[in-house]
Amino acid sequence: MCKDTETIIYTDEQGRTFARECTCKKINDSKRRLQRTALANKADKYTLETYKNNEEWQKNILARAKEYVTNFNGDWLYIGGQPGAGKTHICTGIIQALSFKYNLSYDYILFNKKMTELKQSKFDDKESYKENIQRLIDVDILFIDDLYKIEPTKADIDILFDIINERYLNSKTCIFSSEKIAKEIIVFDEAIASRIFEKCGNYVIGIAKDINKNYRLKQ
Ligand SMILES: Nc1ncnc2c1ncn2[C@@H]1O[C@H](COP(=O)(O)OP(=O)(O)OP(=O)(O)O)[C@@H](O)[C@H]1O
Ligand SMILES: [Mg+2]
Ligand SMILES: [Zn+2]
Repeated sequence: MCKDTETIIYTDEQGRTFARECTCKKINDSKRRLQRTALANKADKYTLETYKNNEEWQKNILARAKEYVTNFNGDWLYIGGQPGAGKTHICTGIIQALSFKYNLSYDYILFNKKMTELKQSKFDDKESYKENIQRLIDVDILFIDDLYKIEPTKADIDILFDIINERYLNSKTCIFSSEKIAKEIIVFDEAIASRIFEKCGNYVIGIAKDINKNYRLKQ
């Protein structure tokens, strides 16, 4: 409609001309943000269409992912377990599909990296800290990748709780990937874990540890 200008020009009955943002702008903004993260250039590779499902367990995961997107009602989604089994791939596919289908903005953060950045700015530059946190609270869908990759400190938990709780209260969707299966995260912080489980409902997916499922080791 906008011929890739992201702006739509229209004229009202009095002949006045107006410009408004095209719906594609929100999706494009999210894509541009993704290009500034660790997933740069992975957007086209990590989709639901490119997710191979030769194995039964992959068929299950893909079916759940598609069902989640089709019936999307704001529920959260958690996928945990075996490293290299396509968790980041499937979640990236999901956020792109949701963004496209429902015109939602998304943001991708790598848990450890973002926590380090936020902790630093919390002390060095309060303004930029506030801005960063606000962005993570406002975005329609937040994908937190590799949750609890290393054991979180008290400072990590405080920051994560603020983000999760605000999103919980405002019914904003979060999607998580982690090497930890869901019940393993309770020990780090019960308040965070219980909010995650409540919001995920049926969309808690576990991939049982099995080195044969590590895609990186397959040639
Ligand atoms: N079913 C699949 N179809 C196509 N590619 C896949 C599939 N599963 C994994 N891959 C590819 O294998 C690589 C590893 O997958 P990914 O990074 O998503 O795994 P992960 O479960 O997130 O691992 P980690 O726990 O180490 O973060 C990626 O390049 C991904 O595209
Ligand atoms: Mg991953
Ligand atoms: Zn457009």
